[in-house]
Amino acid sequence: MDYRVADLSLAEFGRKEITLAEHEMPGLMAMRARYGEAKPLAGARIAGSLHMTIQTAVLIETLVALGAEVRWASCNIFSTQDHAAAAMVVGPNGTPEAPSGVPVFAWKGETLEEYWDCTEQILTWPDGQPPNMILDDGGDATLLVHRAVEAVKSGELPEATEDDSEEWRVICALIARNIAAGTTDWVALANEVRGVTEETTTGVLRLYDMERAGSLLFPAINVNDSVTKSKFDNKYGCRHSLIDGINRATDVLIGGKVAVVCGYGDVGKGCAESLRGQGARVIVTEIDPICALQAAMDGYQVATLDDVVEQGDIFVTATGNLDVITADQMARMKHQAIVGNIGHFDNEIDMAGLARLEGVERIEIKPQVHEWRFPDGHSILVLSEGRLLNLGNATGHPSFVMSNSFTNQVLAQIELYAKTADYPTGVYVLPKHLDEEVARLHLDSLGVRLTELTPKQADYLGVSVEGPFKPDTYRY
Ligand code: NAI
Repeated sequence: MDYRVADLSLAEFGRKEITLAEHEMPGLMAMRARYGEAKPLAGARIAGSLHMTIQTAVLIETLVALGAEVRWASCNIFSTQDHAAAAMVVGPNGTPEAPSGVPVFAWKGETLEEYWDCTEQILTWPDGQPPNMILDDGGDATLLVHRAVEAVKSGELPEATEDDSEEWRVICALIARNIAAGTTDWVALANEVRGVTEETTTGVLRLYDMERAGSLLFPAINVNDSVTKSKFDNKYGCRHSLIDGINRATDVLIGGKVAVVCGYGDVGKGCAESLRGQGARVIVTEIDPICALQAAMDGYQVATLDDVVEQGDIFVTATGNLDVITADQMARMKHQAIVGNIGHFDNEIDMAGLARLEGVERIEIKPQVHEWRFPDGHSILVLSEGRLLNLGNATGHPSFVMSNSFTNQVLAQIELYAKTADYPTGVYVLPKHLDEEVARLHLDSLGVRLTELTPKQADYLGVSVEGPFKPDTYRY
């Protein structure tokens, strides 16, 4: 088995935490109980690109229990938990000397080149056969396939200009190298892929863009917009893991501080609530009048970043947008202000611009925590080099909330793999009865007792006793 992880001797620790996590992931365990015998994913060859954490380990072993073969990489250079990666490679029945688990290509602290090599590895299977499913978080695996297919079909390699990011240069170089070596038959691969299931807001945005442009090569299920994903993981997950990241990185007391949250979508709502829960005075920035009004009615001051940049002690970006905090704004912040991003990509905070400021100095406090000192002697602390801090500085969302997200992922993989004909190329969300089912699977462990509609009540509401209970337009 080929693989690349940090240290296989961490597998035993990983396995212990996986066992604890299984108890907290009732949705995934229900999938195993329900489909373990029928194996609806038999024959599926899944290329997975999603943070290689303990929770993801439980997802991977669920996919395997349902019959799939899997190759896995992380979707962020800092998010891998090395003990989880080791446990996946060793497998439940293997040893570090004789691993018999899943080929994983992920470790904490990859370079950008290594990151994209790992993404290439999950798409290039050693038997020469292509994968037939993709499970993506942020869309990097999907992006690589689409850019490579474009290059092969047009005969023109993608190019990076001066203004492009370092990451795009790395991708262009990888595609050029891969095509020159004939490593992957990209067109055959894209034809073979039955679909992709996408985890997050930012990846979903890319999929809808490609669908609109007519360039999407295979069907996609938007897992993010299952209610039991975005209204839970994005919100309650970040409510937990944002302050976990800030605490582990800095251990600064949050109570009494002024915290600025940029973006009041699902992630921003969770972030603002967690900071307020610690006693911070939270200020929100928004571009959308609806979300701005929501923030105001939830009791937050809503301001522009420029107006409050000198007041904040902690700044968090949660927009999925670029250039949200500029280098000049960082230079204006208080001494030792903390700056972090919890959105998917590192372009929310202008790290490249910060590095270009004249006389600025970067001092490593510890991995993923850097002090940036300005020529006048004052400094700020930047977490995870501007990449998502809850996975870079802490361990991401806890198991219970990820069980909701990942049960959607499993159901979406089954839909696209086993009912391929029902999904012509396009972007879909899971039907509402499955969304409700995911929630239902998580009620017992919280001691929730659900009220049942009487037939008369159901009739009055115009729904069935078993659900779905809401129209698709309902926003929760
Ligand atoms: P969303 O679309 O619900 O919210 C983003 C909000 O930011 C919107 O309300 C938008 O109006 C606002 N916004 C956009 N540009 C802005 C600007 N320049 N200034 C202020 N506000 C601005 O998206 P969601 O689901 O909250 O996701 C946000 C990001 O977080 C995405 O990149 C997503 O992929 C990522 N994400 C990260 C997670 C993590 O664990 N770190 C978990 C889930 C999502």
